[in-house]
Amino acid sequence: MVTASAPGKVYCFGEHAVVYGEPAIPCAIDRRARVTVTERADSALRISADDLSLEGFTVAYDGGPEDRPNVDAPESLLDAAMGYVRESIAQVRDLLDRPEAGFDVEIHSEIPLGAGLGSSAAVTVAAITAAAVECGHDPDPAIVADRAFQVEHSVQDGEASRADTFCSAMGGAVRVEGEDCRRLEDVPTLEFVVGYDGGAGDTGALVRGVRADRDRYDSIRETIDTIGAVVREGQAALEAGDRDAIGRCMDVNHGLLSALGVSARSLDAMVWAARDGGARGAKLTGAGGGGCIVALGDGPVRRALEFSTACEQAFATAIDRDGVRVEQR
Ligand code: MEV
Repeated sequence: MVTASAPGKVYCFGEHAVVYGEPAIPCAIDRRARVTVTERADSALRISADDLSLEGFTVAYDGGPEDRPNVDAPESLLDAAMGYVRESIAQVRDLLDRPEAGFDVEIHSEIPLGAGLGSSAAVTVAAITAAAVECGHDPDPAIVADRAFQVEHSVQDGEASRADTFCSAMGGAVRVEGEDCRRLEDVPTLEFVVGYDGGAGDTGALVRGVRADRDRYDSIRETIDTIGAVVREGQAALEAGDRDAIGRCMDVNHGLLSALGVSARSLDAMVWAARDGGARGAKLTGAGGGGCIVALGDGPVRRALEFSTACEQAFATAIDRDGVRVEQR
């Protein structure tokens, strides 16, 4: 039996534009998904999951629609989460040339599903690592990141960048531009507050919507290019440790994401609540549509978010310098 954990993430800058080759800078946060894998004597795959949202719910799921458990998570989200695990195991069977390997997989996650905090990447990265180690193979995190990207690419119908999976595998702040993925080593310790509206967005549908608009409108193509410029300014601000400039880039990035049509009333309300509470900057994080915002700030920002009717939960978080790790073997 092996347990591996991997962090969730927030995007400092660059989601959506990264799908079209612009740079993005996500950073890992101290909320993790933990996956325990036990090899079976047969070739079956059994998945069980606890606490796949911050609300907390319990589910035992064998993978077939007929076994769908009675839980208070949207079915599409639950199916998606199980899809990531099934594809992760397929990647491990391929990596180790063990097509018949069977596993019991147990998931515990502190990261809400589909809310922009990289839950699927964290579960995928942790599942691949735990299953490989359980089979006696210690995979390099860069290999895990690549295999996890293949999983997201397949589950999201080809609409995925390497950003979420590379960030979760490597930890810290990372810069991803196409296939060029690397850690940024000179980023200061930043205090973030995350506001969560209790909802979720459909990443695949949101990315497809932006792609359709980009194919049709020059203004959307230019907005995506401008997000790339903001990411480059944001990177310079991060490396200089200039918190005011980092916050400004977050604010501009949020405006541009709104222009792409991926914000939501609840996300905008939380962004404004965070700014009213003194945040240096605030933006939605991830695909949008609902879920989370990230603000640069501390206690007063968290309290301002807690007073916002749009916000179901707010929590302080910080960059997690650790990526995937084996917790128990
Ligand atoms: C989703 O967390 C981030 C997007 O940029 C999609 C991706 O990069 O795969 C919207």
